[in-house]
Amino acid sequence: MPKPSSLYRLTAWGGRIAAALTLLMSGGWALAQDSGEYLFRAGGCWACHTDIKGGGPPLAGGRPLKTPFGIFYSPNITPDPDTGIGRWTVADFKRAMREGVRPDGAHYFPVFPYTTYSRMTDDDIGRLWAYLKSQPAVSRPNRLHDVAWPFSMRLLQGGWKLMFFSSGAYRAQPARGAEWNRGAYLVEALTHCGECHTPRNAMGGMDMGRWMAGTRDGPEGERAPNITPDKATGIGDWSVGDIVELLKTGTKPDFDNIQGTMEEAVQHSLKYLTEADHKAIAAYFKALPAVVNKVPSGTAK
Ligand code: HEC
Ligand code: HEC
Repeated sequence: MPKPSSLYRLTAWGGRIAAALTLLMSGGWALAQDSGEYLFRAGGCWACHTDIKGGGPPLAGGRPLKTPFGIFYSPNITPDPDTGIGRWTVADFKRAMREGVRPDGAHYFPVFPYTTYSRMTDDDIGRLWAYLKSQPAVSRPNRLHDVAWPFSMRLLQGGWKLMFFSSGAYRAQPARGAEWNRGAYLVEALTHCGECHTPRNAMGGMDMGRWMAGTRDGPEGERAPNITPDKATGIGDWSVGDIVELLKTGTKPDFDNIQGTMEEAVQHSLKYLTEADHKAIAAYFKALPAVVNKVPSGTAK
C-alpha cells in the first residue's frame, strides 16, 4: 500500500501525461492551456498593444482605439525600462490587472479591459507577467490619448469604478460543472467578449441586465450582434459546433466570414485556443439567459 504522498505523486503524473496526450491529439497548437503565452493569446493583448496597421513593433503600443469619448492609444508594454513597463514589479502588474490602477496610483480608463482581467487568478496573472518579461524590449514613447475634457480626467475614473466595477478573481460555480466554469473563466476573465457585445450606458458602464445582448455602439463604432441564445434576435439557432467553427476559423453558419474587430479577435486571439476551450466557450453561451434585443443594422451615429 503506497503512502498517501506517493499516491498523490502518481496521480499527479497521470494527470500530466493525460494532459500532454490531449494536447498531442488536439493537433498542432502545442501551448499548455495555462502557459503565459496561451493566456496572452486568449486575452487578446497582442492586437490591442501592437499598432498592426501602422506596422509598429509587437507590444510597443500606439494602436488607436476609437470610442464614443475619443481616441485612446494603447501603451508600450514591452520590458523597455523608459518607454515600456521594464521598471515594474510583479506587484505593479497585479495591481494594474486586478484593480485598474497605475503604479503611481492613477486610475486606468476602462478601454483597457481590466474590468475583465480582474477576474484572472493570481497564478494566471503571474504567468502572464513572466511571459511579458520574456519579450524583446522596444523603445517607443507612448502617445497621449485624444479624449475631450472632462472624460480625459483620470480622477473621474475613481467614481466610474465605484459605480461599474468590482475587483476580484473569478469564483467557480460548482453547480454548473467543469466545462461551463472553464468557459465562464475564459469569457469573463480573458477573451472579454462582453466588453464588445454588451450594451453600455451613457457613462460607458456595461448594462449587466443585458449581458451579451449586442450594441450598435461597439468598438470602432461597429455593430456587435446579440450573442445570447434568443432565437429571433440572438444566436439561438447556432449549434455548439457553429460557435466552435466561428471561434476557430471566423466562418459563420451561413458561410459568411466575420468582419472588423471580431475578425481581429479570431485571427490574433481566439483561433489559438484549444478545441476543448472553444467547446467550453460555446457551452457557456448556450447556457446564457436569452435576451430579446434587436441590434439595428448599420453603424452607429
Ligand atoms: C481593447 C484593447 C486592449 C486590450 C485587449 C488590452 N489592453 Fe492593455 N491597455 C489598453 C489601453 C488603451 C491602455 C491604457 C489605459 C489608460 O491609459 O488608462 C492599456 C494599459 C495596459 C497596461 C498599463 C501600461 C502602463 O504603461 O501603464 C498594461 C500592463 C496592459 N495594458 C497589459 C495588457 C495585457 C497583459 C493584456 C491582455 C491580457 C491587455 N493589456 C489587453 C488597451 C488594451
Ligand atoms: C473587440 C470586440 C469583440 C470581441 C472581443 C468579441 N466580439 Fe464577437 N463580434 C464583434 C463584432 C463587431 C461582430 C460583428 C462582426 C460582423 O458583422 O461580421 C461580432 C460578431 C460575433 C458573432 C456573430 C454573430 C452573428 O449573429 O453574426 C459571434 C457568435 C460572436 N461575435 C461571438 C463572440 C464571442 C464568443 C466572443 C468572445 C470569445 C467575442 N465574440 C468577442 C466584436 C467582438
